[in-house]
Amino acid sequence: MEGVLQQIEAYRSEINAFPVTNAAQLEEYRIKFLGTKGVVKSLFGEMRNVPADQKKEFGLVLNDFKQFAEAKYETAKETATHSQTSAANDMDLSLPGDPVQIGSRHPITLVRNRIIDIFHRLGFAVADGPEIEDDWHNFTALNLPENHPARDMQDTFYIHQNPDWLLRTHTSNVQTREMEKGNLPIRIICPGRVYRNETISARAHCFFHQVEGLYIDTDVSFADLKQTLYFFVQEMFGKDTQVRFRPSYFPFTEPSAEMDVTCTICGGSGCSLCKHTGWVEILGCGMVHPSVLENCGIDSNQYTGFAFGMGVERITQVKYNVNDLRLYSQNDIRFLKQFSSAV
Ligand code: DAH
Repeated sequence: MEGVLQQIEAYRSEINAFPVTNAAQLEEYRIKFLGTKGVVKSLFGEMRNVPADQKKEFGLVLNDFKQFAEAKYETAKETATHSQTSAANDMDLSLPGDPVQIGSRHPITLVRNRIIDIFHRLGFAVADGPEIEDDWHNFTALNLPENHPARDMQDTFYIHQNPDWLLRTHTSNVQTREMEKGNLPIRIICPGRVYRNETISARAHCFFHQVEGLYIDTDVSFADLKQTLYFFVQEMFGKDTQVRFRPSYFPFTEPSAEMDVTCTICGGSGCSLCKHTGWVEILGCGMVHPSVLENCGIDSNQYTGFAFGMGVERITQVKYNVNDLRLYSQNDIRFLKQFSSAV
C-alpha cells in the first residue's frame, strides 16, 4: 500500500501544477483525472489489492483525493467559462456606449401643459370629464337644444346602443358638470380631447384637443375676461403680441366674441397664416348666458361668469407655424422631434 500512497501524493502535485485556464485544458484535465479511465477511477480499482485490515484507511485517503481532484475541476470550470464569455464578447468597457434615442413629448402635450401652467398662475384649477357624453351636458344645457341650427357646426359621432350618447364636441361638457356640482366660485380650465364628424384634411380632423376655461363668481365682468386672456396671450406668444375681440355668436355666451392675436409668424406684415390680414383667430369666448347658469342650478341674479375655449392644435399652429393638422397624429418622428425643447 505504501507505493500507492506515494503515487497519490505525486498525483496531488501533478494536479496542482496542471494548467486549466481554458476549456480545452479543462477537458484534458477531466479525462485524465476524473474520466471513466482516469486516475481516480483506477486508484479505486487498487482497492482490490489492499489487505482487508487497511481497506478502511485506504478508502478515506482515496475519497479525500477524489474530492481534491473534483474541487480543482469545479473551480477551474467557473473561471474557464467566464474568461470564455468575455473573450467571446470581446467586451471593452472603455468604449463609449451606443447612443440611446431619447423621445420627446408630443407638441400637443407641450403646448397643453404650457396653457395649463399659465392659467394655473391665475388660480385656475384643472377639471376633467367624460369623452363619451350625454346630450344634456354637451348640448342642451348649453342652450343648444335638439334641432338648434348651431348643432350643425358640431356634428359628431353617436353611440348606436343609446342615441343620447355621443362623443363630446367640446370640453364645455366639463363646465356643465362643474356648474351642476354648485361649488361656487368656480375657476377651472378643462383640457381634453374632443370629436367632430369632419372629413380629414389639412384644416379639419375628426378629433382634436381643447382647453376651455370658466370663471364664475359674484361681479365677474367682461373686463376680467379681457385681462385674463390678454395675460395668457402675452405669456404664450410674447410681450409684443396684441389682441383684438370681434363680436361673435355662441349659444352659451352673451355677449360672445372671437379673439385674434397679431400674427406671430409675420408680425403683422402679412403671410399665409394670417391670410395677409396681420391677425389670427385663436379662441372663442364670452359671458356665460344666464339661462346656462340657470340650467345648471346657479342663480343668475347673484352670479356672473366668463368662459372661453381654444383648440390646442390651433395654438400650436400659430406658435410654430404648423400648416397641416394631420401632422399631429401621423407619428412622424421628423416632425415630432422638432419640439423636444420647445415651448
Ligand atoms: N365650445 C366652443 C367650440 O368648441 C368654444 C367656446 C367658445 C367655448 C366660447 C367657450 C366659449 O366656453 O365661451 O367651438
